[in-house]
Amino acid sequence: MTPVVELDRVSHIFGDRGGKGGTTAVAELDLTVRQGEFTTLLGPSGCGKTTTLRMIAGFLQPTSGRILLEGVDATRTPPEKRNIGMVFQSYALFPHMTLRDNVGYGLRTRKVASDEVRRRAEEALDLVGLAHLADRKPAELSGGQQQRVALARAVAIRPSVLLLDEPLSNLDAQLRVQMRRELLRVQRETGLTAVLVTHDQDEALELSDTMVILNEGRLEQQGSPRDVFPRPANRFVAEFLGYDNFPEVPGHGPVTVRPEHVRLLSGEAREESGETGLDGTVGEVTFQGSNCLVEAAINGAEGPGSVLRVLHPSDDLRPGDPVRIALPHRHLVELPAREVTTG
Ligand SMILES: Nc1ncnc2c1ncn2[C@@H]1O[C@H](COP(=O)(O)OP(=O)(O)O)[C@@H](O)[C@H]1O
Ligand SMILES: [Mg+2]
Repeated sequence: MTPVVELDRVSHIFGDRGGKGGTTAVAELDLTVRQGEFTTLLGPSGCGKTTTLRMIAGFLQPTSGRILLEGVDATRTPPEKRNIGMVFQSYALFPHMTLRDNVGYGLRTRKVASDEVRRRAEEALDLVGLAHLADRKPAELSGGQQQRVALARAVAIRPSVLLLDEPLSNLDAQLRVQMRRELLRVQRETGLTAVLVTHDQDEALELSDTMVILNEGRLEQQGSPRDVFPRPANRFVAEFLGYDNFPEVPGHGPVTVRPEHVRLLSGEAREESGETGLDGTVGEVTFQGSNCLVEAAINGAEGPGSVLRVLHPSDDLRPGDPVRIALPHRHLVELPAREVTTG
């Protein structure tokens, strides 16, 4: 099937003056967004996520490269001629309009008949559980409800792709997790193709069919969460996904291991590590409730790889304790030997 969105070596340089200077926000990005899928663009602040989304929406032109929408070159198509729905971090609702009118707005500008506007606005509000508040104004709603209205408004036009730029990041932590589920439900129920921008790896892992990890405008890795999470392609992705440890293990090239996969054995148990075990000494211990975060230094080692961060399931270790650091082989992830940096 033809992908809904394709980026073909798309770059955007802000302040470019014929190749001199400027900020490269997006660099030769190739991206394919498939029908009905949830794609996330994940990366730290400033890596080019919003710039990529604005180019897909048509608010910003690529400096080079092509954008295809449903197989047709749309690189120069203005935003109003692209059938795209957008949701931003700020809800951007019209304060003087009722929710029904807010949600129907995009349909009215598309010259849909007024009964049909009303019907589809109510249907979209129903989808996000707010049909009973259709006559209210945005100021009478909570932040989470306002963001649901913004989502209903974007969905009401039946866009060929729904673009979401950090839509949940203004909400408090608990509501954010709840809204994540809701967003996924709406996307699954409508069958809409969605592209969501986030800097939150948990959000990306939970929502994505495909996650695309960006760093300084470049693609670092893409794939399903189940492919990417256990096998980060390089150190950047590993660090971003919370692989805190980059130990030097005898007989191995560069490896990484998650804090929850290292085991610390103390007392008698030190002898029975079985797998790769290194002698170490406990440093700082931070009590976190269900775990302790323990720093363990490999005896005789130096440098950044010599201290491991370990999620230890009990509060039985104290600074200075001798431990055996067990690194289960199946959890050691090999990384590329030396990352070549160009440019
Ligand atoms: N309007 C602009 N003018 C100049 N530079 C910009 C502009 N918008 C973004 N940038 C720069 O482009 C890079 C990518 O920005 P952005 O796409 O907003 O990142 P993200 O959304 O991932 O945080 C950053 O270095 C940012 O400073
Ligand atoms: Mg952004």
